[in-house]
Amino acid sequence: MKTLDPRQSIERNIAMELVRVTEAAAMAAARYLGMGNKELVDQAAVSAMRGVLGDIRMDGIVIIGEGEKDQAPMLYIGERIGDGSDLKVDIAVDPIDGTNLVARGLPGALAAIALSARGTMNCPKQFVYMNKIVTGREAKDVIDINAPVAENLENIARAKKRKVSEITVVVLDRPRHEQLLAEIRSAGARIKLISDGDISASIQAALPETGVDVLMGIGGMTEGVLSAAATHCIGGSIQGKAWPRDEKEKEAARVAGVDLDKVYHTEDLITSEDVFFAATGVSSGELLKGVRYFSGGAQIQSLAMRSRSGTIRWIDAWHNFEQLDKLDI
Ligand code: FBP
Repeated sequence: MKTLDPRQSIERNIAMELVRVTEAAAMAAARYLGMGNKELVDQAAVSAMRGVLGDIRMDGIVIIGEGEKDQAPMLYIGERIGDGSDLKVDIAVDPIDGTNLVARGLPGALAAIALSARGTMNCPKQFVYMNKIVTGREAKDVIDINAPVAENLENIARAKKRKVSEITVVVLDRPRHEQLLAEIRSAGARIKLISDGDISASIQAALPETGVDVLMGIGGMTEGVLSAAATHCIGGSIQGKAWPRDEKEKEAARVAGVDLDKVYHTEDLITSEDVFFAATGVSSGELLKGVRYFSGGAQIQSLAMRSRSGTIRWIDAWHNFEQLDKLDI
């Protein structure tokens, strides 16, 4: 097998290859739309994703995946993926962000993957949750997760040359956000509640003109790293702090010497300049259209991004099932 120079091979836009991975996951998971079974949705996406990842010219290690080796048969943390070529990379996967959305036939689920050079992806794995604030290029230098909510909103509004009442904050609809919602309302900003899927919401907050200006609140830690990859490519920013669920998690962090006050900036979660991100819609949402069948095939929509160039591509694909079956891919 030909050995590639890693510096040379990172030059290729691997995001274009990653799109095939998220497309496969989305198409497999979409078969289970509305069937009420989250596990089937996830399994279908994981197995499709794993199949395509195996053919990519790289030596990848799963940093964020389906769990530890003994819990997950595929895409487990530490698994080596790719064809073994000498492009050494870290991989973060979320085969479906919004398994519940797919199981219930609700909008906004997507399949996502991020890739960066080996040793550059960091995730404080002791924690399930992270408190996050995400915004785009215009306001990225004025957010501060330690500042009061009202102060952040005023600063974002000023940076965007708008009134606070013209700023829209996206928040996961969870009881833990009662206080946050009260503070946003009292500051006078608009709120968009979502039932799931904060990777998609983070991307919307980072992109211009989506109708969403900032994401605030507590969501998954691993989703935070994938969101960091996407926001880095877009030129926005995420700040996050570990959010221990209970005293046990706090104590475990203390014993492990983890600083609960540490603010994770985009560049702490991914310390590379070469970051690639891809996502494909499963159920149609505001960011991406979902899988839509036609006779003999399906139409799908993806996003592919690369940090170094800052290029963001929306890719529409038409898949012909008959032809694909013949190719056995
Ligand atoms: P899954 O698809 O893995 O279930 O994640 C959906 C999600 O809404 C994420 O987008 C979000 O970060 C997380 O769950 C929030 O966790 P919880 O539902 O426990 O509040």
